Amino acid sequence: MKPVNAPQIAAIANEFGTPCWLYDAAVIRERISQLKQFDVIRFAQKSCSNTHILRLMREQGVAVDSVSLGELERALAAGYSVDDAHGGIVLTTDLLDRATLARAVELKVPVNAGSPQMLEQLGQASPGHRVWLRINPGFGHGHSQKTNTGGEHSKHGIWHEHLDEALALIDRYQLKLVGLHMHIGSGVDYSHLQEVCAAMVALVKRAGRDIEAISAGGGLSIPYRIGGERIDTAHYFGLWDAARKEIEAHLGHKVTLEIEPGRFLVAESGKLVSEVRAKKDAGANHFVLVDAGFNDLMRPAMYGSHHEVSLVRDGQAVEGATRPTVIAGPLCESGDVFTQLEGGTVAPRELPTAEIGDLAVFHDTGAYGAAMSSNYNSRPLIPEVLVDGDTFKLIRRRQTIEELLALENIG
Ligand code: LLP
Repeated sequence: MKPVNAPQIAAIANEFGTPCWLYDAAVIRERISQLKQFDVIRFAQKSCSNTHILRLMREQGVAVDSVSLGELERALAAGYSVDDAHGGIVLTTDLLDRATLARAVELKVPVNAGSPQMLEQLGQASPGHRVWLRINPGFGHGHSQKTNTGGEHSKHGIWHEHLDEALALIDRYQLKLVGLHMHIGSGVDYSHLQEVCAAMVALVKRAGRDIEAISAGGGLSIPYRIGGERIDTAHYFGLWDAARKEIEAHLGHKVTLEIEPGRFLVAESGKLVSEVRAKKDAGANHFVLVDAGFNDLMRPAMYGSHHEVSLVRDGQAVEGATRPTVIAGPLCESGDVFTQLEGGTVAPRELPTAEIGDLAVFHDTGAYGAAMSSNYNSRPLIPEVLVDGDTFKLIRRRQTIEELLALENIG
């Protein structure tokens, strides 16, 4: 089992109730420091968009990527501005709905364009606007097919063969090209890295334009499983730095190297704390039911993602003899199982025997945990708590059922 600070988790559960999310600020700071060689670390806030986490990022000199109007407003609420010295805000998306377009124009926020229509719509509304081009290099990779963002099955980015059309639109609307961007997927297999770097160099040469910056995108994976591979960030930087140097030699000036991680910065900082409320046996399967569901942590149901689980009882980590256990939630849906494979096959996990009232702690939930939660089964969003050393504070309170109903108080 991965280690837990059991007394602190018990104290937090006692104060704020279960289920709840925890984030450890020290882990986030440590992960940021591992990427400091990059000129700009741009946090992909879709992974964890709580404004208190964004503030922490900003204090550490981390820039931010937004993908929607809501995320733009979150970045602003956290104190980011478009022209922050350390990189400010970039809006990355494949389409601009009308409200987001209007706000992007008003704020003059640089837009990372993922479709030709975005360039047209932005160009018509805001000639001279600063843009990046997100290019799909024709190949991709991800921890699941659902997180692969390159190749011909992906809707993301501008297809590499359409670079010239995109550049023509940039000229037609006198848009200002800032840089080129590639993000081929999340949970990348590092054997692809050399290929991505080479594709970026080739792309810059083919574009034949002056650019200020390149972005390596995000996608850095983390060891969800005990003993899992941990990325060698120095090696990762080295390959991108070599690509950048080749581009600098080609253009004859310095080029800013950006990286855009979400998961790497926050996943390991986060935990989901739930309470064991029921147990049952069904044939060969021993089920332990907790008060968190896939409306809270969606990753296992969506991708068959693995999250290690620890049990806490009376403020102590539970150790000892284990048994195959299926951990499931309260939702009225069979897929509400935390120990499953992609495709939905239930996969029992060796865990110490759980007792009613134990805390079941899911590890590495800081990325795409709270951010992907929903109100399914009319369950309110759960609190988020930021831990810093011995202290902790609430950074989002529990939603109330009255708040859910209020949206429908019409007429
Ligand atoms: N940049 C772009 C353009 C992206 O689309 C993404 C993720 C990132 C950066 C950050 O990727 P990261 O470093 O966090 O892997 N819900 C899935 C992940 C979806 C990722 C979507 N885009 C999950 O829970 O694994």
